[in-house]
Amino acid sequence: MHMEIPWWRDAVVYEIYVRSFADASGDGVGDLPGIRQRLPYLAELGVDAIWLTPFYRSPMADGGYDVADYRDVDPLFGTLSDFDELVSEAHRLGLRVIVDIVPNHSSSAHEWFQAALRGEGRDRYIFRDGGESPPNNWQSTFSGPAWSKTPDGQWYLHLFAPEQPDFNWRNPEVHSEFLDVLRFWLDRGVDGFRIDVAMGLYKAEGLPDTPPEGQAFKAESPIWGRPEVHEVYRDWRKVLDSYAGERMAIGEVWTDSAEDLALYVRPDELHQSFNFAWLEAPWSGPAFKKIIDDTLAAVTAPTWVLSNHDVVRHVTRYGDGLANSTTGLARARAALLAMLALPGSAYLYQGEELGLPEVKDLPPEARQDPIFARSKGELAGRDGCRVPIPWSGVAEPYGFSPEGTRPWLPQPVEWAALSAERQSNDPGSTLGFYQEALRVRRELRGTLPDEITWLDAPEEALIFSRGPLTCVINCGSEPVRLPPHERVLIGSAPVEGHLLLPDTAVWLHTPEA
Ligand code: NOJ
Repeated sequence: MHMEIPWWRDAVVYEIYVRSFADASGDGVGDLPGIRQRLPYLAELGVDAIWLTPFYRSPMADGGYDVADYRDVDPLFGTLSDFDELVSEAHRLGLRVIVDIVPNHSSSAHEWFQAALRGEGRDRYIFRDGGESPPNNWQSTFSGPAWSKTPDGQWYLHLFAPEQPDFNWRNPEVHSEFLDVLRFWLDRGVDGFRIDVAMGLYKAEGLPDTPPEGQAFKAESPIWGRPEVHEVYRDWRKVLDSYAGERMAIGEVWTDSAEDLALYVRPDELHQSFNFAWLEAPWSGPAFKKIIDDTLAAVTAPTWVLSNHDVVRHVTRYGDGLANSTTGLARARAALLAMLALPGSAYLYQGEELGLPEVKDLPPEARQDPIFARSKGELAGRDGCRVPIPWSGVAEPYGFSPEGTRPWLPQPVEWAALSAERQSNDPGSTLGFYQEALRVRRELRGTLPDEITWLDAPEEALIFSRGPLTCVINCGSEPVRLPPHERVLIGSAPVEGHLLLPDTAVWLHTPEA
């Protein structure tokens, strides 16, 4: 049995945070040629696609999520022809390429915003009169008010940093601009888009205050998830469908329910939305079970994700916040097996295959995330999950940059033991484990049903099967008895006998009756 399904439906996608993956130019910052050189590593790892975070022209106020020109590569990262070479080399190796698109806001250096500051075309952004205080109580996601004042006394909205003014999606010109940007990259051969802040874009008419309890990503918020946004994705879907080759889009949608998430994943809208529920959950059997049930009940094309460039790495989250915790690593490996056993696609974040922990002790002067500066150091920000990858060697720059170059964030001395080179050819390493898990998953591809069946399990463990595959994950503190099976396909740690130890997961082969 091998069902033909679109590639993205059960793909394993690897997120590349471009600034921190591989630096070929020797300026301490990752770049497109660096990525191209490392593509064989990704092919060998066994992923199906890569997602590149923004590499467009940008003053880098938010690491590139402040785009000044949507149709060009920032010189820091290379050139358009570097991009073309990267795409064709990825395709040659059988890897698809997803790029990030940032439609909620531009950079303040974008020519439209510069024109707006001169008084031309302000309707492309959200400008309001406000007098001494801002027009409403909205807060920036990065701390502080979501409004800044221009020299002529008007205020403009920025849900993120002041250098990231929000577009006005009630202006048709914004729509046509983004349709054109999509075509620009589709024409260059990209396989899909990751849509930044996909539940943003529209704000409620009249820009009413948020309720006193805050502006969480809730369905009734005046800021997030306005119904009008779905019209945008219907238009985008038409463009994607007009191209040959199963082009897709996945939305970055933060919401508080799987039903709400499902609204974005409709046959005439986005192909997928990130399902952040798991990434927000503690290490807990019942919590994981509820997330799996809710997701599968609501979303037709599920996705699973444990880490990305905005959150604390899951080795550290699962290790009670300790950066280097063996428990955290054991749990991270177990969670991977559970995630890869589920129907749908899985999004990995660079470095998780090396078991990298969060870097918690970056010196304040090294930190670059605007969250750190805007919160006056109260919030650490996201630099700790963005430290450049250790490829080889025993000291900084660990092959990330040419010898003698200092990477844009310092790399810990402990990372000598975690480099890709050190872990390669070691089946017991986390890298070896990821390669093997992805290989087994690939072998099973197309043979498993989309439904899962829950088997009896102690409260803190999960046991589910998909046809001949049974996955057991033990989130509790007591060993769990394995269900009857023919053989072990892979374990997150060695599995012997009929008991599965705490913080471990296993895939079992059980012939169907
Ligand atoms: C979500 C991105 O993942 C994050 O890194 C960025 O800061 C915000 N959107 C704003 O673009």
